[in-house]
Amino acid sequence: MSKKIVFATHNRHKLHEIRSIIGSDYEIVGLDEIGCCEDIPETGSTLQENALQKAHYVVQKYGIDCFADDTGLEVDALNGAPGVYSARYAGESCSFADNVEKLLKEMSDKENRSARFKTVIALIIDHKEFLFEGKVEGQIGRIPHGTDGFGYDPIFIPDGYQETFSQMSLDEKNKISHRGLATQRLMQFLQTK
Ligand code: IMP
Repeated sequence: MSKKIVFATHNRHKLHEIRSIIGSDYEIVGLDEIGCCEDIPETGSTLQENALQKAHYVVQKYGIDCFADDTGLEVDALNGAPGVYSARYAGESCSFADNVEKLLKEMSDKENRSARFKTVIALIIDHKEFLFEGKVEGQIGRIPHGTDGFGYDPIFIPDGYQETFSQMSLDEKNKISHRGLATQRLMQFLQTK
């Protein structure tokens, strides 16, 4: 029987991505499925602090082993912004499209388009903490391309590719993406348990 583990997210895109990597040894359930409808506070100043904060919240409140991720897009020409504030870059309750629009505006006069996604996954299992990281380097495009994915995917072109994450299949994105790499490390660890 597969072991149940919570992925502390309300984001259905992320759940779909992670389930497609982890396979069937673990039953990955999202926050909505355990009746957690609130937004978990993310008040840390680093990806690591936020990931740990979310995972601890779930373990304390629901008593189920849990992992949580936090991701940031670091843009060199913007001194690392939006970074840890990537979700609310264009303001509270903004949409993915609002964030993309704001980033393109801030980048309109920038020649250096280098950027990277970084993900930290915090796992709490049997009351112990473990961290897994993943990173992908790339360039910020000048206009959005593609319809798949979410967030900044339509304007992120990973190094070595001509297309954005939004133009790739999920399998292709998972192989090289920040969260894909961090999840592969998480999965290798879980397989040893
Ligand atoms: P989170 O805190 O991990 O949810 O990530 C913060 C923000 O980064 C999200 O709201 C998205 O805008 C963006 N983001 C996270 N992961 C991805 C991704 O795989 N592709 C594009 N944008 C992402």
